[in-house]
Amino acid sequence: MKNGLSNIKKSKFYLNKNECIGIPTETVYGLAANAYSDKATSKIFKLKKRPKKNPLIVHYYSINDLKKDCYINKNFLKLYKEFCPGPITFILKLKKNNKISKNVNNKKNNLAVRFPSHPLTRKLLKSLNYPLAAPSANISSRVSAVSKMDVVDEFGDKIKYILDGGSSKIGLESTIVSLINKPKILRLGSISVNQIQNIIKKKINFEKNSGNIVVPGQGKLHYSPGIKIRINVKNPKRHEAFILIKKREINDKNYFYITKNKNLNEAGKNLYKTLRMIKNLNYKSISVEKIPGKGIGQTINDRLIRASKK
Ligand code: TXA
Ligand code: MG
Repeated sequence: MKNGLSNIKKSKFYLNKNECIGIPTETVYGLAANAYSDKATSKIFKLKKRPKKNPLIVHYYSINDLKKDCYINKNFLKLYKEFCPGPITFILKLKKNNKISKNVNNKKNNLAVRFPSHPLTRKLLKSLNYPLAAPSANISSRVSAVSKMDVVDEFGDKIKYILDGGSSKIGLESTIVSLINKPKILRLGSISVNQIQNIIKKKINFEKNSGNIVVPGQGKLHYSPGIKIRINVKNPKRHEAFILIKKREINDKNYFYITKNKNLNEAGKNLYKTLRMIKNLNYKSISVEKIPGKGIGQTINDRLIRASKK
């Protein structure tokens, strides 16, 4: 390929050849491929070592593009108007004549769809004549990637190209809301259950794992740095990495601040980056200071609880 092509053109070049590339989004980086291609989407599962039955989110540029594959409804339009493009994923009913590869959603009649706001990825989506299937750019069950270097850390030279869009602004995966039948939250994110309730003017539930796992990736060990994690810790053990959200008087080389003044948005943005760093420093266990369960704090706790399951 010629040098000097713009990054968007390079991305397009590989995607058109049915390759997977890394793409930046405001939540986390995605491992993207043509959602209409069986060949391209099968590579995602292989690279991520992802179980075939765990469906992928498809990323669109516009409602017009989405309408080729899915039915939309009133709740969708309300939430779209308020939050999109942005960190929210909708489960919608697929049209009979949709073009989505059968690999993407395990032959179900519904699809997870999202409109990411990162300007580079929007530009890329606009330039393609297909949507992008993109799970988080990490090996299955591990911590998501929030920068180009994190994607390299996960996949090395196994992927052909990464579109570099800097650090992900939010740093936690999108909120997932099912709009099939009664609206339901399937995964917490930076957009809260309350914010969604306020828009659709109905009480909705977040289904914590009830044994009946609606979102496959949500059940077991997930978002894990591969090290033991303990949460709500006041005093860490001697050789443990300690994640903090408020500046302490004493300094310790094992202290890792994700925010120094309880700014929970900042904590969310720094969480995965810090977990990855601690892992790469070869710590054997991690403890985390208590994080208030308000707003995005609820999402941070959700991810930590899942990551701490053995
Ligand atoms: O922020 C995000 O959502 C990122 C960026 C890259 O867009 N993507 C992401 O994808 O987090 P992934 O695959 O790591 O997580 C998507 C979750 C999985 O747990 C999957 O099981 C669930 O969404 N999911 C996908 N399609 C679904 C469907 N049709 N019904 C229910 N759950 C679905
Ligand atoms: Mg993921």
